[in-house]
Amino acid sequence: MQFFLDTANLDEMREVKELGLLDGVTTNPTLMSREGGDWREQAALICELVDGPVSLEVIGTTREEMIKEAKDLASFGDNVVVKIPMIAEGLKALKELHEREIKTNVTLVFSPGQALLAAKLGATYVSPFVGRLDALTHNGIEGVDQMRTMFDNYDYKTKILVASVRHPMHVLDSALIGADVITLPYSTITQLMKHPLTDNGLAAFLADWEAFQK
Ligand code: E4P
Repeated sequence: MQFFLDTANLDEMREVKELGLLDGVTTNPTLMSREGGDWREQAALICELVDGPVSLEVIGTTREEMIKEAKDLASFGDNVVVKIPMIAEGLKALKELHEREIKTNVTLVFSPGQALLAAKLGATYVSPFVGRLDALTHNGIEGVDQMRTMFDNYDYKTKILVASVRHPMHVLDSALIGADVITLPYSTITQLMKHPLTDNGLAAFLADWEAFQK
């Protein structure tokens, strides 16, 4: 399973890159706005830093606006994936972008049915938002499982990119299902790494070794 970082923050990307765990990045308008400054400069820096796919999202809501923006966003680098919202106009744009070989990530996916439509139209990725569904007491991960079955049934090449991740259990469940990619906030990567028994165990080993040297 590939690990993308769900952020527009360059320091977080550098940290995860140094760990060797940065397979790609997903941004969205909220994450970009948090960084402030000129979004074009920020997008260019992200595309340069990341050796993998970088999702940049369109703002337009009509097919024409999305296609125009997608062409502009794609010019930031070969690694750009254009994020298209899961609305009817987005689906119309998707077909043309697929034909133009512009990579796409259909975002704000909340049901397996939506994912099926995006896959049929050749989306490169679909992003089911599991955390936001869980918050409404719908099981986000169950939907991901159904998407996996549907895509395998028809050999769709669209990759499942699990998004809106809130905790390490989302990561484990996604890996068990066989999701292709998961996009994580920096905090979840830290949570995955940490275990109190590792810290206690290492402290004990080092203390024993120090006592032995005296
Ligand atoms: C995915 O690409 C989105 O940026 C992200 O996961 C949104 O999730 P959240 O805003 O619910 O955290």
